[in-house]
Amino acid sequence: MSLGLGSGDFLTGKESLGEIEKIASSCERCGLCEERQNVVFGTGNPSADLMFVGEGPGENEDRQGLPFVGRSGKLLDDLIAQELGLGRDEVYITNVVKCRPPRNRDPRPEEVSSCRPYLRRQMELVAPKVVVSLGNPAAQSLLATRTGISRLRGQRYKLGDAVLVPTYHPAALLRGGGGEMTAQTRADLVLAKLSLEE
Ligand code: URA
Repeated sequence: MSLGLGSGDFLTGKESLGEIEKIASSCERCGLCEERQNVVFGTGNPSADLMFVGEGPGENEDRQGLPFVGRSGKLLDDLIAQELGLGRDEVYITNVVKCRPPRNRDPRPEEVSSCRPYLRRQMELVAPKVVVSLGNPAAQSLLATRTGISRLRGQRYKLGDAVLVPTYHPAALLRGGGGEMTAQTRADLVLAKLSLEE
C-alpha cells in the first residue's frame, strides 16, 4: 500500500488507538502545531468497516477537536446516511493531517509525511474493509500520486488489506461543484457500499 513505511516512524507499532491519540495530542512534529487550538485525531467506531479520510481540520474542527463538524461535516453525515444507511458513530472519520493548516490551505508534503505514522496506525488498528478519501490531498497522499481527484474517482484501489474509494470533498460540493459532482460523489458512495458487502 502506498501509505507505506517511510523512514522516521516514531511509533513502535504496539500502541493502541488511545495511546497514539495521547501522543498526537502533544505532537510537535511539524509547524502546524504552532497555530492549532486542538489536535483533531479522529472519531467514530474504532472497529468500523468503513473509514473516511479528509485532508485536515478546518476552523470548527480545530475549535472542537473533532473532524467534520462544520458545514462540510453536516453534508458528509447526510451523504453517509442517505447512501450507506449509516450514522457517524458507525464509521470512523479522520484526516491526513491532524492539525489545522492556517487559512485552510492544503497540507504541505512535509506536514503530510510528519503525520503519516498516525494515519497508518489508525488504519492498522481500525482495519476497515473500505476507505473513502475525500478530496485531492487525501487521495493523492494515500495513493502517492499527483493525478487529480476527477480522474481518480469512480474506481477502486487496493490499499493494504482495504479497498480505497476516492471521491470529492464535501466542501467542493458546497462551493457549487454542481449537481454533476454531487451525483458522482453519491455514485462513489454506492461503490463503497458494494465493496463493503463483497
Ligand atoms: N475538511 C476536512 O478535510 N476535514 C475536516 O475535518 C473538516 C473539513
